[in-house]
Amino acid sequence: MLCDNISTNREGHLTFAGMDTVSLAEKYGTPLYLMDENKIREHMREYKTAMEKYFPEGSVPEFASKAFSTKQIYRIASEEGIDIDAVSQGEIYTALKSGFPMERCFFHGNNKTDGDIRFAIESGVGYFVIDNEDELLALDIISGEMGIKQKSILRLSPGIDPHTHKKISTGSVESKFGVAIETGQALELTEKALKCENIELLGFHCHVGSQIFESEPFITAADIMFSFIAEAKNKLNFNAKMLNLGGGFGVRYTENDPLIDYGEKIGEVAAVLDDKCNKYGISLPKIMLEPGRSVIADAGMTLYTVGSVKEIKGYKNYVSIDGGMTDNPRYALYEAEYTVEIANKMNAEKNFVATVAGRCCESGDLIGEDFKMVKPQRGDILAVMTTGAYNHSMASNYNRVPRPPVVMLKNGKDYLAVKRESLEDILRLDV
Ligand code: LLP
Repeated sequence: MLCDNISTNREGHLTFAGMDTVSLAEKYGTPLYLMDENKIREHMREYKTAMEKYFPEGSVPEFASKAFSTKQIYRIASEEGIDIDAVSQGEIYTALKSGFPMERCFFHGNNKTDGDIRFAIESGVGYFVIDNEDELLALDIISGEMGIKQKSILRLSPGIDPHTHKKISTGSVESKFGVAIETGQALELTEKALKCENIELLGFHCHVGSQIFESEPFITAADIMFSFIAEAKNKLNFNAKMLNLGGGFGVRYTENDPLIDYGEKIGEVAAVLDDKCNKYGISLPKIMLEPGRSVIADAGMTLYTVGSVKEIKGYKNYVSIDGGMTDNPRYALYEAEYTVEIANKMNAEKNFVATVAGRCCESGDLIGEDFKMVKPQRGDILAVMTTGAYNHSMASNYNRVPRPPVVMLKNGKDYLAVKRESLEDILRLDV
């Protein structure tokens, strides 16, 4: 199986976090997002423990909450003592309302409006990750008006191509995020930030991309960022106290994907940073990492009910389900790969090849193509694995389809974290 929280029970039903998925589908209906709370906590601890081991005191992971943003995930992050990354008023508001200690929140985004800046400051956000010069100047003015000195770091682009999908690659020089080191603009912005009266510059940030399995892009990024820190020290006499290396470690969507030991990877990056410190005679700043996908992806599974099995003789087969791109747009956007199972027929033979299609009026509304699976019938439960990241958070109401609920599983018990959207919810804003 893909992950140790997936198994089959005596009834031949798929289990997730030790619970019968067919019973859960019956109880809550489908489509249904399931989340394994213990797996989320396990990953958070994995990161926290490794970072405590390898990096200076105060180095903590931030959960990149764009991967999954609900009140309950912020409560879990708070209990586990990890920080969060938020990119919008919506994410900040959700965290705030969950009772998350906002001084542990990093506010990201490449275009923060004046309204966003004020809202974040009013919400007590701990750190701004400043993306560009316009934002720097706006933040300086607004912080001054609001009578604070805002702790901040600068987002830099290290100029790295991490060999992942173009749409989730973010660290190259021409990326829309951050300020390029290569062009000299990063150093110029640092100098300007140091002159801003209402900004306390603490250090730098970079994020190279997402769903990356190799250590090499992270090691290269750490190397480039540290050389920049040394340059800022020499040329501007600035001692960076914080270096945030972003997120991006990959997860297993299919059996072909490797299983990564995140602790080990963090150790590899730490070794490079230690070497650099020795080389430049600088002490290591606090290191932050921002994992999203690798904390939450394999803690999620989505259940659907099969509606039709269409065999186009001599061409292809379709299995249509009661969800699709509205709850999981990742195949439509990135041709992302997944693994599917027929949850109520786990012991039957997988001798059918089919495309799993959603129910939107759109040919591209697919969960994936050419899945080898047990041949299902109308009414069977189809499960898609590894849907914890960027599924619920990217869901939409296209075709006015209500979004599924999120049910958390913990120690053999299930509880609702997000209710199923109703038709009334869909109409709520229409006048
Ligand atoms: N930090 C920053 C600044 C980011 O932009 C991201 C992701 C992360 C951290 C977390 O990266 P992760 O550990 O999750 O790879 N919707 C796409 C993924 C977009 C990632 C955007 N930024 C997908 O479904 O694959």
